[in-house]
Amino acid sequence: MDYKKILINRRSVRNYLEKQVPIETILEIIHESTYAPSSGNEQPWKFIIINDRIAMKNISEEAKSNILNWIESNPNDNVKKYETLLKNKEYNIFYNASTVVLIIGDTNLKNTKVNCALAGSYFMMSATSRNLGTCWINFATHIKSKDMIKQLGIPENHEIVAPIIIGYPAEVPTIPLRKEPEIIRII
Ligand SMILES: Cc1cc2nc3c(=O)[nH]c(=O)nc-3n(C[C@H](O)[C@H](O)[C@H](O)COP(=O)(O)O)c2cc1C
Repeated sequence: MDYKKILINRRSVRNYLEKQVPIETILEIIHESTYAPSSGNEQPWKFIIINDRIAMKNISEEAKSNILNWIESNPNDNVKKYETLLKNKEYNIFYNASTVVLIIGDTNLKNTKVNCALAGSYFMMSATSRNLGTCWINFATHIKSKDMIKQLGIPENHEIVAPIIIGYPAEVPTIPLRKEPEIIRII
């Protein structure tokens, strides 16, 4: 797939086929995501692959409940716009995807968020080049339960930066409207 086509086809996919992406393919995509640049070539990213729908449902419930509690004590927060959606019992933050990959990084390092986000971007492009769909699911960063963090194997002083679902798309959406880039000045 040429690069322009990858850019156009890389859409946030929220509807997947039942078929599971083979672990070998996920590992190849993870490998390609490490071609991303990182500050000082630190490559701080680590990956957790979750293929289990029950585990994903549990994470979804935990995240939804934490975000709803946050909204209750911070009613002016922008996230309030998702309140109705999050209260919907049918809503799974991972939609019907069969896999989520968590890109995590060390919170003690200076540029962890940026570096892991770049790996996330490469991950999505790599998946697209294989006709796979992805969607970054920020809601999944809202995990607090110590038990769950332990079960997921997230080491101490690490944070989830990029939770990305991956699967065979049931459909690829068209590009949502893009604003014209704001060029402030050309000097
Ligand atoms: C940092 C970040 C967080 C996001 N979190 C969510 C999310 O929690 N749930 C979701 O459905 N989409 C999420 N998205 C996907 C965006 O909604 C999507 O990228 C945007 O609507 C543009 O669509 P496109 O990706 O097809 O270009 C997130 C995207 C980014 C970059």
